Amino acid sequence: MNLEAVMNLEVLQQRVSRNLIMYLERLHINDPKLMEALTYVVQAGGKRIRPFLVYQSGLALGASAALLDYPAAAVELIHTYSLVHDDLPALDNDDLRRGKPTCHVAFDEATAILVGDTLQTLAYDVLSTSSDIAAETIVAWVRILSKATGYEGMCGGQALDLASTGKQINLDALTQIHTLKTGALIEASVTMGAVSAGYLQDSDEFQALRTYAHHIGLAFQIQDDILDVVGETAVIGKPQGSDEAAEKSTYVARLGLDEAQHSAQEHVRLAQAALASLKQHDMKALSDFATFIIHRDH
Ligand code: IPE
Ligand code: IPE
Ligand code: MG
Ligand code: MG
Ligand code: MG
Repeated sequence: MNLEAVMNLEVLQQRVSRNLIMYLERLHINDPKLMEALTYVVQAGGKRIRPFLVYQSGLALGASAALLDYPAAAVELIHTYSLVHDDLPALDNDDLRRGKPTCHVAFDEATAILVGDTLQTLAYDVLSTSSDIAAETIVAWVRILSKATGYEGMCGGQALDLASTGKQINLDALTQIHTLKTGALIEASVTMGAVSAGYLQDSDEFQALRTYAHHIGLAFQIQDDILDVVGETAVIGKPQGSDEAAEKSTYVARLGLDEAQHSAQEHVRLAQAALASLKQHDMKALSDFATFIIHRDH
């Protein structure tokens, strides 16, 4: 597969979806219900934007698509797990995801919990089982992804999100929630791409991409908040108005629609400004992606 083909979003979506199914098929699971539920959530679709970011940042810096397949699949497994648990009655209690009944509705709560647990551990299995990959690369991936997923990342952000439900919180607190619950995995996607190409934390490339990712992560969740208000259930694939019904702390609730949109635009601008320092690499795909975030309708 040539580079241009790999860069195409649809091709990348198919590539990661194929790999995810392949990883599931390799599991020797004895419980057909759990396997059915795993297949259901993995095949439900989704935009696959985190894998896209792994590929685009890695390819821009010279990593091979074959190497990027591992972190691309791993971050999508973590993301899918986070959605399955996010929808549970104890968290957001939503019944529609990616246009289909949520996992706990299609199956049951216990299965949805176990699906999340299985997807999460599978992510690290995928990252660490290939004997062809340098141990330092695997360790760097695992460190980035585990930190972004756990207390200092997505899970910590989800906890703050739940704690702020039904309350008035200030913008700094809300920004911290968004940075953690959504931004952390987006940042991990971009930085796993960078380390796959050998650009570690002390490099200018890593730092600039991290700044880029911080801002697109925020823009992404602000747009998610906006779509909950202005989107249509059939298009967004999840229940419109869910945030307001649950009294969630969102950018729209805090700032109003116009201000929320301005804020998202400003984060896109800052993201693109961060890329400007990387003149020796072709960052057009990442720059265009930032613009896509605030124009997306689902
Ligand atoms: C939804 O993420 C949850 C957030 C973190 C905002 P996506 O909008 O990437 O969901 P899918 O994967 O495309 O369904
Ligand atoms: C999701 O935030 C963050 C996750 C870690 C899954 P939301 O609760 O806003 O995501 P949606 O709107 O249900 O996709
Ligand atoms: Mg939530
Ligand atoms: Mg939710
Ligand atoms: Mg949302």
